[in-house]
Amino acid sequence: MRWGTRQPPMPTSSPHARDERPLRPDDAPHLIALSSEAGWNQTVADWAFLIDHGAGWGLWEGETPIASAMILPYGDRFAWVNMVLVTASRRGQGIGTRLLHRCLDAIAARGAAAVLDATPAGRNIYLPLGFRDQWGLTRLEADRPAPPAPPRPVAVRPMEPGDLAAVTAFDRAMFGADRLAMIAHLAERCPDCRFVAEEAGRVTGFVLARDGRLALQLGPVAADDESTAIALAARALTGAEGRVFLDAADRHSGFNAWLARAGFTGQRPFTRMATGDTAGWGDPTRLFAAAGPELG
Ligand SMILES: CC(C)(COP(=O)(O)OP(=O)(O)OC[C@H]1O[C@@H](n2cnc3c(N)ncnc32)[C@H](O)[C@@H]1OP(=O)(O)O)[C@@H](O)C(=O)NCCC(=O)NCCS
Repeated sequence: MRWGTRQPPMPTSSPHARDERPLRPDDAPHLIALSSEAGWNQTVADWAFLIDHGAGWGLWEGETPIASAMILPYGDRFAWVNMVLVTASRRGQGIGTRLLHRCLDAIAARGAAAVLDATPAGRNIYLPLGFRDQWGLTRLEADRPAPPAPPRPVAVRPMEPGDLAAVTAFDRAMFGADRLAMIAHLAERCPDCRFVAEEAGRVTGFVLARDGRLALQLGPVAADDESTAIALAARALTGAEGRVFLDAADRHSGFNAWLARAGFTGQRPFTRMATGDTAGWGDPTRLFAAAGPELG
């Protein structure tokens, strides 16, 4: 069963009435207006993936989206909350909180916890709803980054379709849930940026990326240690010609110092937040850069 899609029937309305209803696949080309207005990097393909694999609610005026909030189920223990957006002229009217309640009710009905990466504006509405801070990330950006040589040679090679199972297992141990669909999606989105690190035939890290509206989003970068993470990022960044975004975990100071030498500067902070105790679900120390705030 898909999460949260069993909704009461849509009220019949004139084309300009305000409708709150579940998001549908054909909404993706319209929703891009909402994320673009907020200066976000998502493309129509991102919205389509999230609607296809998750559930969401939107407030509409005719074909114009006014607000959205979504969940992406990751196994039984937790779901990712994402795309919480209210158009600028309608903020501060309780719309964001109302749509978030839709998400949290659907997640609670499954006995799961909610997890997300919050912007500072989002954190204001998540705190009263019971979300608690876990750790910090920073959105870094660079224009044509110039990665310095990694400090230690690490065997890194392009990711092949046959690596999917081992990469998903590595990701599951790090993230705490199966993200096969997301990994397969990102591997398709940027075939030139998908790499695995290997030692004695065992996957010790991987990197993926995707095209964005404003910049290439590099991530996740997941690795057993810092030099492996740097070697993976260096390989994926080689040949990246335009603007690059990367959501780096604040705890990895050596990785972040290397990124600074590659030309990355801080754009804005994110806070990973959760409604429950997620300790022991995965190993966030092996996450160097997240897949993005909408994916974790
Ligand atoms: C974050 C966002 C979705 C909030 O939506 P909203 O509809 O304006 O939020 P609400 O009206 O439900 O606000 C709920 C409470 O948070 C407060 N609040 C909302 N945004 C705030 C802000 N930027 N700073 C301080 N308080 C804020 C409201 O005053 C309200 O408090 P109250 O209940 O005591 O009156 C909206 O500001 C937005 O789209 N921002 C840009 C995108 C973004 O950052 N999304 C979050 C992603 S994690």
